[in-house]
Amino acid sequence: MHYHVLTLFPEMIEQGLHTSIIGRAIEAGIITLSAVNIRDYAGNRYGKVDDYPYGGGAGMVMQAEPVYQACRAVEDTIGRKPRVIYLTPQGQTFSQTMVEDFAKEEDLVFLCGHYEGIDERVLEEVVTDYVSIGDYVLTGGELPAMVMIDAISRFVPGVLSNEESAQFESFQDNLLEYPQYSRPSVWRGKEVPPILLSGHHANVEIWRRQQSILRTWQRRPELLADAKLTKKEQQYLEKIRQEEQEKEEGRKTVCGRTADADRKEDEPHES
Ligand code: ADE
Repeated sequence: MHYHVLTLFPEMIEQGLHTSIIGRAIEAGIITLSAVNIRDYAGNRYGKVDDYPYGGGAGMVMQAEPVYQACRAVEDTIGRKPRVIYLTPQGQTFSQTMVEDFAKEEDLVFLCGHYEGIDERVLEEVVTDYVSIGDYVLTGGELPAMVMIDAISRFVPGVLSNEESAQFESFQDNLLEYPQYSRPSVWRGKEVPPILLSGHHANVEIWRRQQSILRTWQRRPELLADAKLTKKEQQYLEKIRQEEQEKEEGRKTVCGRTADADRKEDEPHES
C-alpha cells in the first residue's frame, strides 16, 4: 500500500505516523508514506496557495491549481489515476466497511484541506471519495487522514504480526471486544472473573463471546442487527433481553407501589 498525503503540513503527517505499528510497517517497506507539500506547487515564489473567497465571507480558500498540480504529480509518479479521498465533515462517515474497501487499493491519495476549504472546481475534478471521521469540525484534514491510514493499514497484509492480527478485535462479527484482565488477579479488592483463571479454554471462549454480546447489547445495541451469532448465542442474547425486561417490569412495579404508598401518606389522616 502506498499512501500519498497532499497537505500544507507534511511534517505533521511524518511525525504522526512514523511510530509504533505503522512506523514499523513503513520501515519494513510493507507500506510507504509520502507527504506531498501542496505549497511546492504554488506556482509563485512566496508559496502562496490561498486567496479570498469570491462572494465575500470570512477566511481564505485553498486555490485550485496548486492542489491540481500536486495531484497530477502523484498520478505521474504512479502512472494511473488513484482514488483521491478528500477529508471533510461533509463526507460519508468513516466505518470499518470503508476500511476494508480502501485496504484493497494499491495507492491512496488523501487530500487535506485547511482554512475555509478548497476551491470546489478542483474537488470536482480530482476527488473520488468524500470522507468524514465524525460529526465535529477539525482545523484540517491531517488528523482524519492519519486516523484513516492507521485503520486501513491494519488490513494490509503483513502490517500486523500473527499475534496482533489473531487478537480478537472490536467489530469482529459486528460485536464489541470482551473485557480484558491482567495480573494481579485481585486489584484493590476487585477480582478477575474466576473463569479466566480456570485454564478451561473452551469455557473461556464461550464466556468471552457472551461478554462480547452482552457488551454490544449494553453499549452499541444497533450493531447487533448485523452481528453473526450462532443459534446458542442468539438464545443467550434472548435471555439477556428477557432478564432486562423482567428487571424493568420489577422496577415499574416497585416504583408504582412506592408512588401509591407516597400518595396514601400524603392523604390527610382521619382522626
Ligand atoms: N476536516 C475537518 N473536520 C473533519 C472531519 N470531522 N472529518 C474529516 N475531515 C475533516
